[in-house]
Amino acid sequence: MKDQLHQLFEKNFGYTPQYEFFAPGRVNLIGEHIDYNGGLVMPCAITMGTWLCVGKTDENVIRFRSLNFEEQIEIPLQNSFSKTGSEWFNYPLGVINELQKAYDWQWGGLDLLYHGNIPIGSGLSSSASIEVVTAFALNQIYDLGIDRLSLVKHCKKVENEFIGVNSGIMDQFAVAFGEKDTAIVLNCDTLKHKLIACNLGDYSLAIINTNKHRTLADSKYNERVQECQKALQCLQQEININNLCELSAEKFALHQHLIEDEILLKRATHVIKENDRVISAAKLLSEGNLNSFGKLMYASHQSLKELYEVSGKELDTVVEFCNGYEHVIGARMTGAGFGGCAIALLKKGFEEDFAKHLSDYYVNKIGYYATIYVEQIGAGPTTLRTI
Ligand code: GLA
Repeated sequence: MKDQLHQLFEKNFGYTPQYEFFAPGRVNLIGEHIDYNGGLVMPCAITMGTWLCVGKTDENVIRFRSLNFEEQIEIPLQNSFSKTGSEWFNYPLGVINELQKAYDWQWGGLDLLYHGNIPIGSGLSSSASIEVVTAFALNQIYDLGIDRLSLVKHCKKVENEFIGVNSGIMDQFAVAFGEKDTAIVLNCDTLKHKLIACNLGDYSLAIINTNKHRTLADSKYNERVQECQKALQCLQQEININNLCELSAEKFALHQHLIEDEILLKRATHVIKENDRVISAAKLLSEGNLNSFGKLMYASHQSLKELYEVSGKELDTVVEFCNGYEHVIGARMTGAGFGGCAIALLKKGFEEDFAKHLSDYYVNKIGYYATIYVEQIGAGPTTLRTI
């Protein structure tokens, strides 16, 4: 991949790039719609990701190109940038804008060429991947000395303020802190994390893309964030908490009467129980109890479908198939939902059989195909080349 990108950089810009970087995408194993409620999530980085070749120039412009999108843009250096339309280059542009505001650095012209193999809008964090690879690259190139957590926070700010999605910190964190064959248990309130070896034994991690495209900006994501804030306000009338996830299920049962609105009650119930599921899931994974871990994945999906209402017929069809397929021990939607991807723990050796039967089942019900990948849990951002 890197050699091809390098050659394409030369073809596009007419000179050899000085740098090449990579950042992964992510899946979330469990703990969905929890990060913006201050609870626990359990994502891991995957080997799919975004590659970036960079050349420094003497010209006073930044040029953005991608092998995945036709749109390209050339922007003169300036003190601040604003979002232009909804094209892909707004993500790296937002990162440049953010780092420029936060750090005083002597910079010049840049040529940036991106290539990603994460399916866009599929819930595997292609946007966090492009943000983190850009921030990681600028940090290295200009020797900004930004620690990894600050890098994550800057990228989240880009998503929230520049792009306009009120997402939590999970995606950028997972992309930046991912390690091979390792799950991250992140407390989204304290931002403390611990790593758990993700030893799947006889199973592999299958990712099933429903091919139902969505973007967070046009989904009901921000609506869910607001609903959780309202549910929290109801509870705050009597109890002193800052986040929904400060409550255990038992404690919530004592105070849930404060939430009179039925929808808000459903949202809060999902959040609190899902947070508890992450605590159990982390224990089960470290004990190597994959069967019970898998059951929690199904329970998580059910809750996202019925209480949080962020699934959809495409994701439900995939999980329903998995539930009836004897060589899968757990499956659920991953990421924001409303389409995108599901994950499944699939017995090794059944990849082809699974793909064939799932494809038939899915196309029959939905009318178009799903795409199936068997992914490895990969590492965080890396520098592939510096000259
Ligand atoms: C998206 C957001 C994350 C998180 C998930 C749902 O991926 O970017 O911050 O909220 O949805 O768990």
